[in-house]
Amino acid sequence: MFSLFKKKQQAKLLTEIDKNNLPRHVGIIMDGNGRWAKRRGLPRSAGHSAGAAVLKNITEFASEMGIRYITAYAFSTENWKRPKAEVDALMDLLLDYLKDKKLLEGNQVRLKFIGDRSALTEEIREQMAIAEEESKDRDKTILYLAINYGGQQEVAKAVRSLCKEVKEGTLNPDDINETLIGDRLYTEIPDVDLIIRPSGEYRLSNFLLWQSAYSEFWFADICWPDFTEKHFTKAILDYQNRNRRFGGV
Ligand code: IPE
Ligand code: IPE
Ligand code: MG
Repeated sequence: MFSLFKKKQQAKLLTEIDKNNLPRHVGIIMDGNGRWAKRRGLPRSAGHSAGAAVLKNITEFASEMGIRYITAYAFSTENWKRPKAEVDALMDLLLDYLKDKKLLEGNQVRLKFIGDRSALTEEIREQMAIAEEESKDRDKTILYLAINYGGQQEVAKAVRSLCKEVKEGTLNPDDINETLIGDRLYTEIPDVDLIIRPSGEYRLSNFLLWQSAYSEFWFADICWPDFTEKHFTKAILDYQNRNRRFGGV
């Protein structure tokens, strides 16, 4: 009954959107979980759990809308600075999320990951590989989860890889251009068209630095666990009213 009501509400929101002017790639900085929990007198980890459920809901809705690529920032290279108990709770949550066989089941969402996996436990890396393998034939939407991801680290990785090719004599430094750098980033998809950041912060926090050269931004003063399909629809509608010039007139 509830889900029928929800489906109806979602269908109504979807009619507001111009299907011919959708962002191909939407980035989401899922911020404000801790503050959401604190306001409710809950531990920060409860905010992270609530946030994980919201990601599932929003991804399904975005896929329904026709969004092709979503990159969701789940853990930054700087988030290791947090107390060990919180980092552990986030890693446990990630593991549960990956092991949840119902994750994005019943729709056409493929799961992929960006970021440096080497610092993650073997169990997490294994589950990541399983999730990627099990969803690899779904082709409607690709959800990239950014885990131990940092935009600066990603560019440094690309530079290292180019330097190795120069050293091996297979690349002339004069041939290094934007395309060669872009090809060595984690993302094998179009640059991000729209970046959504709730929680009232107005910054990138090291998210998709290279890929956001011409992104549109959408900020809101709500915490990620309170983010609904309505907010997502509003972000897309606002995006559709922007005039993207890419340096032209
Ligand atoms: C975002 O929520 C989740 C992660 C960074 C892992 P926060 O935990 O940053 O929540 P706030 O910003 O402290 O409220
Ligand atoms: C950005 O949020 C990282 C993620 C959402 C995973 P943070 O909460 O870490 O960002 P800052 O510290 O406020 O810039
Ligand atoms: Mg935060």
